[in-house]
Amino acid sequence: MSHSPVMLNEAVAGLAIKPNGTYLDATYGRGGHSAEIVKRLSTEGKLIVMDRDPLAIKEARQRYATGDSIDSRVTIHHSPFSKIGSYVVEHQLDGILIDLGVSSPQLDNPERGFSFMQDGPLDMRMDQTAGESAAEWIAVVDTEEMARVIWKYGDERQSRRIARAIDRFRQESPITTTAELADIVKRAVPGKPNRKRHPATKTFQAIRIYINSELEEIETVLENSIAALAPKGRLAVISFHSLEDRMVKQFIRRSEKGEDDMPLDLPIQSMVKDGVLRRVGKAIFPSEDEIYNNPRSRSAVLRIAERTDELV
Ligand SMILES: C[S@@+](CC[C@H](N)C(=O)[O-])C[C@H]1O[C@@H](n2cnc3c(N)ncnc32)[C@H](O)[C@@H]1O
Repeated sequence: MSHSPVMLNEAVAGLAIKPNGTYLDATYGRGGHSAEIVKRLSTEGKLIVMDRDPLAIKEARQRYATGDSIDSRVTIHHSPFSKIGSYVVEHQLDGILIDLGVSSPQLDNPERGFSFMQDGPLDMRMDQTAGESAAEWIAVVDTEEMARVIWKYGDERQSRRIARAIDRFRQESPITTTAELADIVKRAVPGKPNRKRHPATKTFQAIRIYINSELEEIETVLENSIAALAPKGRLAVISFHSLEDRMVKQFIRRSEKGEDDMPLDLPIQSMVKDGVLRRVGKAIFPSEDEIYNNPRSRSAVLRIAERTDELV
């Protein structure tokens, strides 16, 4: 179960790697992007890697921190990227890469509970050592709230109908497997089946985003990236979902123009106004070849920004 890194060359080029620089790969996954960054570093360069998934971190340690493969340039942290501030000194980083979403090993392993294609425990946590699983959440959540989550994070128009079907089922017996949930959703959604997309696609995506607090994580890491980046440091973010991409785009725009929704009497307002990021180029999308070779890349968008000299 390997992972094909998405827009590998584009993302690494966007970081404009300086051989002696310090970089953060905030979403190590299976290390495709990290490996390309390391290749471009001198013996003085540094790479910090993070991932909230213990299996991703295990792979990183095997590759860079054990036996003959110890590479002292690479530091590895098991952590959600919202905690970037705990691991990185202010203005230390020459580049941050954030490749959002889930990795192929997470999606393809039925034990992780992300996929409706294969049966497994209904888990969906990127870090199975923390927080509530999808099954635990579904067992207790209010039906209206469940509908709201499915609508908001899945853009699913049938969210109420689906939530009511889930509620009816859970009153009879707990929903503990991905196949059960996929089947409940499939039976709840009226109309002809769409051959291209399983009817549970949006519901699974919504619950995953909610269970992992994915949007809150993105909001926090973006805000904290400003302090972590050195002047002229680069931020490269790959999103797979329109909600994520909108957040990234608006964040870059706000940081560029210095517009912020902070009260005007805060002293920081004047500094933010100067603009702390500069957009680098336009949004980048995968090539047709890449989409053909790796269909999971099809919804990806890469945005790049550079830290200005204005320190806040
Ligand atoms: C698309 S994969 C990254 C693939 C990686 N670039 C590669 O080339 O192998 C996304 C990874 O980000 C991790 N991840 C997602 N959200 C995270 C968060 N909030 N904090 C830390 N890691 C996160 C997931 O566990 C997953 O391993």
